[in-house]
Parts: sequence; C-alpha cells; structure tokens
Amino acid sequence: MTPQPDSPLSLETIRAHLKTRTIGSALSVHNEVDSTNRLLADRARAGASHGTVVVAESQTAGRGRLGRPWISPRGVNLYASILLTQSQAPPVLSWIPLLTAIAVVRAINLLTGVHVTVKWPNDVMVLRDGEGRKLAGILVEAIGSGPSGERGVVVGIGINVNMPAEAFPEDLRASATSLLIETGRPVERAPLLAALLGELEHLYGQLCDQGTGGIAAAYETICATLGKRVRVELGGSGQVEGAAEGLAPDGALRLRTKEGKILEIRAGDVVHLR
Ligand code: BTN
Repeated sequence: MTPQPDSPLSLETIRAHLKTRTIGSALSVHNEVDSTNRLLADRARAGASHGTVVVAESQTAGRGRLGRPWISPRGVNLYASILLTQSQAPPVLSWIPLLTAIAVVRAINLLTGVHVTVKWPNDVMVLRDGEGRKLAGILVEAIGSGPSGERGVVVGIGINVNMPAEAFPEDLRASATSLLIETGRPVERAPLLAALLGELEHLYGQLCDQGTGGIAAAYETICATLGKRVRVELGGSGQVEGAAEGLAPDGALRLRTKEGKILEIRAGDVVHLR
C-alpha cells in the first residue's frame, strides 16, 4: 500500500464541516510545527481564548504520553490541539483525558463505522485477531494560570488516518494501526476533525453543566480495561498487577491486587492480561 494523502487540510475545508459554537472559533492550520501542543500552550500563555484549535500537517517533535515521541508524518494523519480554559475544579479537569477519548471514539465510529475501544486512560484501540492495536492517542497538558488567573489545559489528539502499514516504524507495526489499514480505503480528515471537535464541545458542555456522572457512564461503555486483569507499568516506580474494578470519582483506575488491596492509579501504561 502506498501513502494515500487526502486533500490537504485547510481552514476552508475544516470550516466547511464544522458545526461548533466555541471550539474552533479560533483555528489555525500549519504545514509543519514541532508540536501542536507546544505551540498552543505558548499561545495560551499569550492570551489565546477558550476553544482555540491548532492543526498541523506534520510535527517534527510530536509528544506522546509518558515522555514518548508521537510519529507525525506529513499529510496523512490528524494532529490537533484544543485549548480549554474555562475555570474548572481539579476533579472535573481530571476527566478531560477520558472525555476526549469518548469524543475520539464517537467521531471515528460516526464517520468510518470502525469499532474502537479505549485502554485506560485514553489509548484508542482497534481489536483485531485478539490483539489491541493503537489507532489514536491523547495527551492533555496543564498550562497553569492564564493572564486572568484561569486554569487551562491543552488537549492534544493524534489519529492515524491514512498512514499505510509500511510507514510505521518496524517496532510499532504489530501494535499500531490506522483507519486506512482498518477500512482499506482513505478517509477524509477534515470531516473527521470537524466531527471530533463537535463531540468534544458537546461532552465538555455536558461535563461543565451536569458534572461527571454522565461522562463516567459513557466512558465505562467504551473502556475495554474495566473488568480485566491488568498490569500497570508505573514509569520510574515499577509495576502493579490486579483486577481493574472501576473508576474513582476523579477518573483514576481502581485496581484490586491479589492481596485484596485497592489501589488508585492516576498515571501509567496499562497492559491487558489474558
Ligand atoms: C499518546 O502517547 O498516546 C498521546 C499522543 C498524542 C499525540 C498528539 S498529536 C497532536 C498533539 N501534539 C503533540 O505533540 N502531541 C499531541
């Protein structure tokens, strides 16, 4: 399969599909940036408004979770960052990574019909031949206080859209996938991005107006981790194993160890065990 770029992303193509009120009202599209998250965090510190979106055709230093790089070749995938600065208490903010995963799952399902699930907290996965393959990733970074003292986060989303298998580094080929690989046909990125921003605006509104209850219930229906035996790699501090029993009120993963101890995990890499 050779790379399948669809039409280049532009303000016009994205706006033609966008139905949001606030998210994307300020929108910029770049040919190449180091990282859309880095660029938007700088803009936030300089006063960018809630809902500002930065999109790029390629990233030279795309950032992944847990300090990993995010492979960002030109013209085939979606790399987008969204600024959310409305004042929120920390328990609500901690749901934003999970809420974003719901938005990504809904947009992909709506536009492509591909069945995707989530590995806690926000790895968007396709299950094929009994193996989970990563299709999209989310990196939420706090930007601290803005010019008027508000808290804010940059929500970074990377979706592998039209990336052929051979464009993935060899060590990722078995564990990563794209919509092109899953559907066998190229997928237009502008309508997918517009649907994603629409879902995000709707879910963020729901979180702000009604609290975390509805978001938690929606997340539980798409999260493949809950109910499974898992190992969680905790970066520098080792690993733990147990049964993923549910979510804590702030979205942390509740794990029951074989000694019967309940742990609340707030960051880490989950491996589903058979
Ligand atoms: C992960 O490791 O799963 C998270 C990946 C997040 C990648 C996206 S691409 C757009 C935005 N800009 C970045 O530098 N990272 C995020």
